Amino acid sequence: MASIPQGNLIRPNRKTNGAGVQAEDTKICVVMVGLPARGKSLIAQKVVRYLHWLSITAQTFNVGQYRRQATPNPTAAFFDTSNPDGEKLRRAAAEAAVDDMCKWFREGKGLIAILDATNSTKSRRRWIKERCDAEGIEALYVESKCDDEDLIMANILEVKTTSPDYVGQDPEEAAQDFRNRIRNYEKIYETIDEDEADLTYVKLIDVGKHVIINQIKDYLQSRVVYYLMNLHIKPRSIWLSRHGESEYNLAGKLGGDADISSRGQEYARLLPTLVKQSAGEGRKLTVWTSTLKRTIQTARFLPFEKLEWKALDELDSGVCDGLTYAQVEERYPEDFAARDEDKYNYRYLGGESYRDVVIRLEPIIMELERSENILIVTHQAILRCIYAYFMNVPQERSPWMEVPLHTLIQLTPKAYSTQETRYPANIPAVSTFREKGSKAKHQDSPACTPGADGGERANPMNGA
Ligand code: ADP
Ligand code: F6P
Ligand code: PEP
Repeated sequence: MASIPQGNLIRPNRKTNGAGVQAEDTKICVVMVGLPARGKSLIAQKVVRYLHWLSITAQTFNVGQYRRQATPNPTAAFFDTSNPDGEKLRRAAAEAAVDDMCKWFREGKGLIAILDATNSTKSRRRWIKERCDAEGIEALYVESKCDDEDLIMANILEVKTTSPDYVGQDPEEAAQDFRNRIRNYEKIYETIDEDEADLTYVKLIDVGKHVIINQIKDYLQSRVVYYLMNLHIKPRSIWLSRHGESEYNLAGKLGGDADISSRGQEYARLLPTLVKQSAGEGRKLTVWTSTLKRTIQTARFLPFEKLEWKALDELDSGVCDGLTYAQVEERYPEDFAARDEDKYNYRYLGGESYRDVVIRLEPIIMELERSENILIVTHQAILRCIYAYFMNVPQERSPWMEVPLHTLIQLTPKAYSTQETRYPANIPAVSTFREKGSKAKHQDSPACTPGADGGERANPMNGA
C-alpha cells in the first residue's frame, strides 16, 4: 500500500446537522394538535429520537407537564371549558411552555421544538402562530385525528391509566375519567380546516391512512412530514443479527468480502431455529442483508423473502480495509488515536465515519418504519447504528457498544419504549469488539461462551 503522510487521515466531518442540511437559521416549532389519546406524545417522542439520531437537536415542550406543576391529579371536570379556574391554569401552563420554548430557541439550543399539547381550537393555534411569527419560528402543525372508539379505548388502557395524572388510582376509574376528559375536549375541538389554509400543516387521519399536507415550506419540514407519513402502530418486531463469524473475523481483519467460517456456517444453519424460537411458528417476515457474501451466506437457510441492500454494507474502512487493528495502529498511529478520541466522527481516508453511515442508513430507517416484521443480517458498525436509532443510544456511546457475533436480537416497539430480547446461539465465535485504547486482535466475549443466557434486558446498553 502506498504510504500516506501521517495525520492526513484525519478527516473531521463538518459539524453541520447529520441530515446534511445547512440549517443554522432554521427554527421549527412542531405544534401537535388533536384530542387526548391520539398518539401526540408518542409521535413527539419518536420525532425527537429520529432527529437526535440525525444529530439535529430537538426538544419536546409538554404542556401537560407544566400544568401538572400546579394541578398534578386533575379530574375530568378540570378540563371542562366552562370551568374558569381550570381554563386559567391550562392557559398559564400553555404560556409557560411557549415562553420556555422561545427562550430555548433564542439561546440557540436547537433547531426543532415540539409543542406537545391538544391545541384543539383555532384560537389557540392562531395564538401560537403569532408567538412563533414574532420570534422568527416556523410553525408546523401536526394533527392526529382518529375516531376509532376501540382504538382510543385501547390507547387509554395502554398509556393513560398509568399516566402521572392518575398515580395511585384504580385503573378502571382512571380510564373512565379519561374518557370523560376526552368528552370535555370534544365539546370545543376544531379540526384544522380551510379557515386555516395559511398554516403549514399535516393532518394524519386514522393513524396515517389518509394524510393531508398544506404549505410545507422547506427541506427540514418535508423530512419531518415524510417521517410522520411512514409511521404505523401495528404490532411487529425487528430482528438484528450480525453475519456468522467470517474468515476475516478469525484473522482480526477489517472490512473485506470474506466467506463465513465453519462456525459461521453453523450459526447460519441454526439461525432459522433461533428465529422460530423468538418469532413463533408461522410469523411472516422479510430478511434484509447487505450485498456482502458473509451476510448473504448467513441468511441462506432462512425460509423467507430476502432483499439485498447496498446501504447495509459494513462501514467502509478505506485504506485500512484488510488490515488488523494492530496494523492500523502501526501504520497510522495518529489516525488510530484520532478514531479512539472521536469514533463517531472519525472518517477513514477513502472511507466512512459512523456519521456517514447514519446518513446512508436513513432510507433504511424510513423503510423500517413503514414495514412490519423485518430481520436484518448485517455488520458490526451498521447494526450499532440501527440499534442506536431504536434504543436511543447517544452517539458518544453507539460506536463502542458490544454487539456479539452469533446472537439474535429482537426489538419490539412498545408505546413509549422498545423492548429488547437477545437469543445467543451458543456457538463460539471470536469477539471483534475492541475497547478504546486497545489494539487486541480478539477479546473474549462473555456473550458467546456456551451456556451464556441472553433474555430480556432492562438496560439495553452493553459496552463502554
Ligand atoms: P396523546 O399525547 O395524544 O394524549 P399518547 O401519545 O399518550 O396520546 O398515546 C399513545 C397511544 O396512542 C399508544 O397506544 C399508540 O399506540 C397510539 N397511537 C400512536 N399514534 C397514533 C395515531 N396516529 N392515532 C391514534 N393512536 C395513535
Ligand atoms: O471486525 C469486524 C468489523 O465489522 C470490520 O469489518 C469493521 O471495520 C469493524 O468491525 C467496525 O467496528 P469498529 O467501528 O468498532 O472498528
Ligand atoms: C394538559 O393539561 O394535560 C394538556 C395537554 O393541556 P391542553 O389541553 O391545554 O393542551
